[in-house]
Amino acid sequence: MRNGLTRREAIGAGALALTIANGASAAPTAAPGGRSSERLERWRFRLGHASDIERDFGFGRNQRTFAKAGAATADAAMADFDDQNWAQIQVPHDWAVALPFAPPAVPAPKETADAVAAHGFKAIGRNHPANSIGWYRHPMAVSAADRGRRIWLEFDGVFRDAIIFVNGYVVGRNEGGYAPFRVEIDDFLNYEGGANMIAVRVDATLGEGWFYEGAGIYRHVDLVRADPLHIPQWGTFVRSSVGPDGARLRIATEVHNSGAEAISATLRQAVIGADGRTIINLADAALTLRAGESRTLEQDGLLRAPQLWSIETPQLYRLRSEVLVGGRRVDRYDTKFGIRTIRFDAERGFFLNGRPVKMLGTCNHQDHAGVGSGIADSLHRWRVAQLQTMGSNAWRSAHNPPAAALLDACDEMGMLMIDEARLNSTDDEAMSQLERIVRRDRNHPSIVLWSLGNEEPHQGSERGARINAEMAALVKRLDPTRPTTFAMDNNWDKGVGTVVDTLGFNYRTNQMEGFHQRVPNLPIYGSETGSTVATRGEYANDTARQIVRAYDTEHPWWATTAEQWWTIVAERPYIFGGFIWTGFDYRGEPTPYPQFPSISSYFGVLDTCGFPKDNYYYYRAWWRPNEPLVHVLPHWNWPGREGQPIEVWAHGNTEEVELLLNGQSQGRKPMPRNRHLEWRVPYAPGRLEAIGFNGGRRAAHSVRETAGPAAALRLTADRRLARADGNDVIILNAAVVDARGRPVPTADNALRFTARGGSIIGVGNGNPTSIERDVATARKAFNGLAQAVMRVGRIPGPVSAEVASPGLKGAAVRIAALPSIGGQS
Ligand code: GAL
Repeated sequence: MRNGLTRREAIGAGALALTIANGASAAPTAAPGGRSSERLERWRFRLGHASDIERDFGFGRNQRTFAKAGAATADAAMADFDDQNWAQIQVPHDWAVALPFAPPAVPAPKETADAVAAHGFKAIGRNHPANSIGWYRHPMAVSAADRGRRIWLEFDGVFRDAIIFVNGYVVGRNEGGYAPFRVEIDDFLNYEGGANMIAVRVDATLGEGWFYEGAGIYRHVDLVRADPLHIPQWGTFVRSSVGPDGARLRIATEVHNSGAEAISATLRQAVIGADGRTIINLADAALTLRAGESRTLEQDGLLRAPQLWSIETPQLYRLRSEVLVGGRRVDRYDTKFGIRTIRFDAERGFFLNGRPVKMLGTCNHQDHAGVGSGIADSLHRWRVAQLQTMGSNAWRSAHNPPAAALLDACDEMGMLMIDEARLNSTDDEAMSQLERIVRRDRNHPSIVLWSLGNEEPHQGSERGARINAEMAALVKRLDPTRPTTFAMDNNWDKGVGTVVDTLGFNYRTNQMEGFHQRVPNLPIYGSETGSTVATRGEYANDTARQIVRAYDTEHPWWATTAEQWWTIVAERPYIFGGFIWTGFDYRGEPTPYPQFPSISSYFGVLDTCGFPKDNYYYYRAWWRPNEPLVHVLPHWNWPGREGQPIEVWAHGNTEEVELLLNGQSQGRKPMPRNRHLEWRVPYAPGRLEAIGFNGGRRAAHSVRETAGPAAALRLTADRRLARADGNDVIILNAAVVDARGRPVPTADNALRFTARGGSIIGVGNGNPTSIERDVATARKAFNGLAQAVMRVGRIPGPVSAEVASPGLKGAAVRIAALPSIGGQS
């Protein structure tokens, strides 16, 4: 798999000078002319066993697992194996999220305890062999017409150590949990009837990160068929430079003849606009390829009035590449791309299309309430949208390359992306992963930096410099258009800091100024900033209950508050941005309480469900400064504390803020730029209101009212229209309210979600100490809120969801599921 080439292509490529150019994903639906692509979503699944051969379906039996081709001694790898009692699951799928929590037996060695906490206390890994292997099976329909075609399985990411079988043959292996890979399978199929079966054994015993990583086929799988003469996976690369006469495109397209005969063909390419209209037809290019030969054709095109990709107008184009033989189309491959310019200036920051843009970023792992790492495309989009609503324009994919589906969302929605390698090394596996990542991702306009790594032990050393220089050289060879970066937490002047194009500071924001003076030519940014730890909706620290107050005051020793870092970065143009650690809470790394039952981090501006904590409004105020905002905290339900002073804060961006309690002014104060306001208010139940003034006029307000007992539920869906494609998910947010419809900020009622026309696939409530089941339909509210993820079915028509709780008035929402277009499995 090194170079991202399949066995057959590698043989053919041997004699050639490969300036292979690659691109984004091919169209996922069937296209005329030899190529078809089918997304494999519905698989049979069963846990295997890492130490019991019979419970692992015979894998490893008689030590003959790899002895004979097509006779893998694993029953589940064989086509005729009966899997009817296996679960039917939907990919993206994470089996770890459904596992129980397993805090280590006390006292565990510190290292074990830390590792188990880091991965969110799930019962997976060496101590849980019965939960650490997963088997997947998917049949495929093959006909005589497929004979002679090239057929591949394209995996966007499997966690982890996967063996791919087809009809009992081992057809591929892939260790890394985050890099895409593909395997060619056409040699192993039955073309004249008879079963064809794909099986995947996934071994998640070992981890790669220090955070929850999930387990299984948690990203898409495509079954792709093409003519022997075809454009290989990631076989296009579209570059552009923008000048006064328009955008000059440089298009590199690889064509590969995997057939046994030489062949003459024509490459015909066109650029298509967002409205589907052809904008440029490039000149046809003739080529003759020997058997096994690959060739990369370079072509130029001029787009006279390009619509540039930007955060506000994420305009995309499509390159349509067709291969014709004797006038007949044998392949068609679509590449999405965007036209934009990027520039990093060590004094003035980042420029997008010539305009300065401060990167208002967050770091995130692929993890969400209810579903873990098995994130559907629409949930990726929803998560991007939550951050955009806060004013964020940039995402750092920590600490691994993102799912292709997330990149598509960022392209379409205008979110900048730092694409990060998982392995910071130059061994064959690490370099192969890096190469695959750059080839897969280099047409995505959202990506602005390649991050080679994060806080590696060798970061400040000469060895670190050597390793990263070699990685950087590979990146430059594959993509000369984007700078490299690395996230360091010490020794910035040395080691890796001397070989990358831009340099990230993890925390230590106060050291950036000195560094900039010493090294004025290197663009810098906060690769991890903050991070305030907080439990949503809590306002007093409570060590016994492992609760952290949500004022912007609590942070680990290496970090700062939101206000401390943002005031530094906001005022210094040479710092091109900052990425909050983190946008969303994530499972694992339960900081600052590394002990059970804290199972997720407290770092997020949003909790694991995407419910905002109060700091969200701090960022929103200053990241969307032109939209007047005020937000008052805490909630106003403090029975028993009448007359006692309560610490009241206002986040906001209006010139002044006045606080009123039950209509009585508590004082009007000017809001200092990039900061917040505080009052101490003797508690009396009622209405706490903050009013923001601009130019003496009321411009924004925020109210907290003392709520009565829980009486009813409110349910909202993120959308009213869904696609009936079996993979679309709707985010259902439930709130507990009192008899007058006011949110009850302390409610913890037990809720139950039901769906018609869809299914509830996971639930959450954002409580970092909740050990209720994720893959369930019931969940307690936490501080008044809970969430369910509903997967919409495949039948178009009305879909509805309900939430109920004993003693409360229930609520329902209706959604329309529209017919989906496109070939699904
Ligand atoms: C950083 C690290 C992150 C996360 C964070 C927690 O050092 O890069 O992945 O562990 O600390 O504060």
